[in-house]
Amino acid sequence: MTALCIGQHALANRLFVAPMAGVTDRPFRQLCKRLGAGYAVSEMVTSRKDLWNSLKTSRRANHEGEPGPIAVQIAGTDAAMMAEAALYNVQRGAQIIDINMGCPAKKVCNKWAGSALMQNEALAESIAAAVVQACQPYGVPVTLKMRTGWSAQQKNAVALARRFEAAGVQMLTIHGRTREQGYKGAAEYATMTAVKQAVAIPVVANGDITSPEKALAVLTATGADAVMVGRAAQGQPWIFREIAHYLATGEYLPPPLVAEVGELLQEHLQDHYSLYGADSGVRSARKHIAWYVRALPGGDALRRLINTLDSTQAQTQAVRSYFDQLGQQMLRLPSPASTTPTLTNDIDDSHHMQALEESARPLLEEVAA
Ligand SMILES: Cc1cc2nc3c(=O)[nH]c(=O)nc-3n(C[C@H](O)[C@H](O)[C@H](O)COP(=O)(O)O)c2cc1C
Repeated sequence: MTALCIGQHALANRLFVAPMAGVTDRPFRQLCKRLGAGYAVSEMVTSRKDLWNSLKTSRRANHEGEPGPIAVQIAGTDAAMMAEAALYNVQRGAQIIDINMGCPAKKVCNKWAGSALMQNEALAESIAAAVVQACQPYGVPVTLKMRTGWSAQQKNAVALARRFEAAGVQMLTIHGRTREQGYKGAAEYATMTAVKQAVAIPVVANGDITSPEKALAVLTATGADAVMVGRAAQGQPWIFREIAHYLATGEYLPPPLVAEVGELLQEHLQDHYSLYGADSGVRSARKHIAWYVRALPGGDALRRLINTLDSTQAQTQAVRSYFDQLGQQMLRLPSPASTTPTLTNDIDDSHHMQALEESARPLLEEVAA
């Protein structure tokens, strides 16, 4: 199969990490790429200029040592501001700019950013056109992520896709839910199939892809050029190599060795602390640790313990002891069938919506303020 390209950038494969505010920071993106993801978009950067120097924004814009292409997502409601935000990120190393029209969070929607923009096709198109125009002189391609529509009655992804393609957008990602759905119900893929048939630019399928079989099924059903995995990669960044192996051979990789996962998590933690600093890092690392062990024996007890520890040493030591003990009980993680949630009921909507709101809150406040 020929490589998928975004503009001049040939991607390593067709397995993408979904942008998740508060989750897909550089350490996590790098880990996913090491473990088989071909492409990762970084978290949203606000289009508000006065916030560009904030610590959160500058951490998000830190791409040190990250394998390219460096793609930065921007969100906002004003075409001129979005164009400026795109330029700002290009000047700081972004090689691809991704426009977020997929975020359902209320704060963004109230201000007509995120997926709310899908309700106003002309405005959405003018934003895309302005960003494309700003990036063109630098040879930076623009991509866009959206949902299937605003509501079940207004599933306008196909109409929008045509407008975005005409505006010069070079790749579209579709999350198979409407804005109204939030994270409720199951993602649907028929709209992605329709979008794929309506445009010539690459289309990426996203939503509820939690296993190698699901990735293959979605690729086959939609004809999409790539799949994007979000929540299922939390705490299991090796899902990308599992999908890659299955797509290439039709066979499953054995689950990872407990010792390997223990080591990966240690490396992840060290990288995390160096980006956020010890004080903040020890707290923001807790959710990652909880995800790694959520389906493992004794995982709940570790999560509770971790929530009481405030130093990086105590945190890494607790994680090390946990994996040492687990390694005495089993060589490999339990098989994915018992640890990977199934498609229809895997995503507890209220839980994930809350996770999204919580982890994205600081940024959403920046965007919506
Ligand atoms: C905690 C969290 C944060 C997210 N942040 C963003 C974001 O910043 N930009 C965006 O386009 N989508 C964001 N999303 C949506 C995901 O990129 C993805 O579209 C969605 O989770 C569906 O894919 P999945 O079923 O594989 O998780 C976020 C999702 C979650 C759970």
